[in-house]
Amino acid sequence: MPCFDRLEETAALWQQLAAGRNLLMLAPRRIGKTVLLNHLFATAPANRFRAILLDVEGLMDEKAFFRECCASIQEEQSTGKRVMASFAQRLSQLLHGGGAQAEEGWRGLLVRTDWQAFAEALLDHIDDHQDDPPWVILVDELPVFLQRLQERDGAAAIRDFLYWLRGMRQKHRRIRWLYAGSIGLDGVARRHRVEGALNDLDPFQLGPFSPDTARGFLADLAARRGLALRDGAADRVCERLGWLSPYYLERIAEDACARAAAGSVVDLGQVDAAMDRLLDLDKRLYWASWREHLDRNFPEPDRARLYRVLETVAKADAGADTGLLLAALTRGDQLVSELELRDLLDTLCTDGYLVRAADGRYRFQMRLLREWWLRFVVL
Ligand SMILES: Nc1ncnc2c1ncn2[C@@H]1O[C@H](COP(=O)(O)OP(=O)(O)OP(=O)(O)O)[C@@H](O)[C@H]1O
Ligand SMILES: [Mg+2]
Repeated sequence: MPCFDRLEETAALWQQLAAGRNLLMLAPRRIGKTVLLNHLFATAPANRFRAILLDVEGLMDEKAFFRECCASIQEEQSTGKRVMASFAQRLSQLLHGGGAQAEEGWRGLLVRTDWQAFAEALLDHIDDHQDDPPWVILVDELPVFLQRLQERDGAAAIRDFLYWLRGMRQKHRRIRWLYAGSIGLDGVARRHRVEGALNDLDPFQLGPFSPDTARGFLADLAARRGLALRDGAADRVCERLGWLSPYYLERIAEDACARAAAGSVVDLGQVDAAMDRLLDLDKRLYWASWREHLDRNFPEPDRARLYRVLETVAKADAGADTGLLLAALTRGDQLVSELELRDLLDTLCTDGYLVRAADGRYRFQMRLLREWWLRFVVL
């Protein structure tokens, strides 16, 4: 997937990494984190870094994490093979003292070594080559990996792993880290009281496309299919979508273009019809992640309260103020305090569902999501 635009974000990220910062990029689903990480990976040499890209979503444990890490180093174009060959030799020496098994490869060594000893030796080793460009380790889907660790080995595993990573960041100051994932990590950190393990990371906000970028993206998607967009069609998409997530822009453009005659100009009616179809039941997978996030990351009673806030906001055409929300949250003798409501609203705003408008009322950030919520979630 080629990365459209994101020029400012990419420049800012390289600048921060070059300045010695380690970064945490938590942003809503489908906003383009993975696309951006791949772009960073591809542009690392031009920015005088060697990059390691790890997608840790499907990995089971710490050893798998570092197996991926080694595999990615090995694939690095400039020095990867050399670095891994000398690492295997060095670790082998360390473990066997140059005995008969001194030629063992890193995979075999990893199987038989405790993951922390292996990983520390690996980071020591890659930090050693001071004449080569520094490494940046791009870790995608860290929150999912942590959740997996917890399911397997309990909450202490999250704490141990995060503090161990922090220790490595302190020790190896030339190695840069960028952790990405959909929201939820701060919640996990708070629940397990491990915020301290993240407090040396700088947050990086990845937002939606600007209207200009969104218009350019829509035109580009149409042009790739030999089509053009009529004046005003892109504006209509931006206006109705409200929050310019590249994923939804692409779904709309794809659908509108697929139904347009070859070589034609896609007009306002066609993009509107494509947005109507995006709200059809058969497209529910496109929207599933919004509910999934609430269902997966929030225990009761918070989950039910978050749903109630969203329902109240969705139903209020002019948006909902805190008075209306407090009334909606009051169930019999169950009272929700203003402080608790503020927490719920903060969560929904940081996680991309709502925005607080200048008049103090809360609205859906993505207008199309509000339409979907009203149609399929609200009773
Ligand atoms: N800069 C971009 N240029 C082109 N397409 C993009 C861009 N960003 C995102 N997209 C489109 O949106 C889709 C979702 O992006 P991506 O997978 O990077 O999101 P994500 O934030 O990693 O989502 P998740 O949280 O689900 O992992 C991509 O498959 C691609 O089609
Ligand atoms: Mg992703």
